[in-house]
Amino acid sequence: MKRNVWLDIPAADYVRHMSSPEVDQLSALSRLLREALERFRPRDLLLLGCSTGNGLDQVDPAVTHRVTGVDINPEYLARVRAQFPNPGFELMLHCADVMTYAFVADAFDLVHCALLFEYLEWPALMREIGRTTRIGGGLSVVLQRPSDVAPAVTRTKYPSLLQLERLFRFVEPEAVVAHARTWGFELRSQQIEPLHSGKAFDVLHFQKGRGPALTAARRVEHL
Ligand SMILES: C[S@@+](CC[C@H](N)C(=O)[O-])C[C@H]1O[C@@H](n2cnc3c(N)ncnc32)[C@H](O)[C@@H]1O
Repeated sequence: MKRNVWLDIPAADYVRHMSSPEVDQLSALSRLLREALERFRPRDLLLLGCSTGNGLDQVDPAVTHRVTGVDINPEYLARVRAQFPNPGFELMLHCADVMTYAFVADAFDLVHCALLFEYLEWPALMREIGRTTRIGGGLSVVLQRPSDVAPAVTRTKYPSLLQLERLFRFVEPEAVVAHARTWGFELRSQQIEPLHSGKAFDVLHFQKGRGPALTAARRVEHL
C-alpha cells in the first residue's frame, strides 16, 4: 500500500504553513469548529483529521464530555496531547487512517471534518460517518473552494507541504450533499467563508434524521 503523504509532513512545518500570512487558515478553522459546537452542542464529539488539535480550546466541557480525535500522523497527535494535558473533558486520540478506522455505531452527536475530504475517497467514508452519528446528531464539513488567485496548496517557506498537491482533489459541495442525504443527513445550512488569502471555504452543516431518502422538498423546509 502507498504511504500516505501526510506522514511526511512534520508537525512544525504543518503548523507554520497553516499560520503563515499567505495561508492563515487556523483561526478561521477554529472559529468554524466553535460555530458547529454552538449549533449542535454535542456531548460526544468526533474530529476526523484533527491534526495538531486546532480549535480544541473552543470545546466547552460543560456541554461536551468526550472528544475523540482521529488522525493518521502520530506526531500531530503527540502535539495535541502535549497542548491539552488536562482539557476538562475526556480526550481520546486515535492514530489511524480514517478509511480503515473501526467506527462505532451511534456513538457521536457531532462529527466534524474540516479540510479532510480533499485528501481521500470521501464517499466511502461518508457511509461510516452516517453509521457513527446518532439520530439527531450533526455533521459539519469544511471544504476548500477553488480559487482564481491562489493554487490549491499555497507556496510558503515550508516545501514539505507541496507533496500534498499529488493527493489534493477539490470536492464539490453538491456531491457531498447528495451523498450525505443517502446516509440520512439533512442539509441545515451551507455558507461560503471567505479568507484573507483570497481563498474561501464551503461550510456545510447536516443533521441526521430518522430515514435515509429525504425528499428535496423536506430538505428545503429546513434551510
Ligand atoms: C488540512 S488538515 C485538517 C485541518 C484541521 N481539521 C483543522 O480544522 O485545523 C488535514 C488532516 O487530515 C489528516 N489526514 C489526511 N488523510 C487522513 C487519513 N486518511 N486518515 C486520517 N487522517 C488523515 C492529516 O494528517 C491532517 O492532519
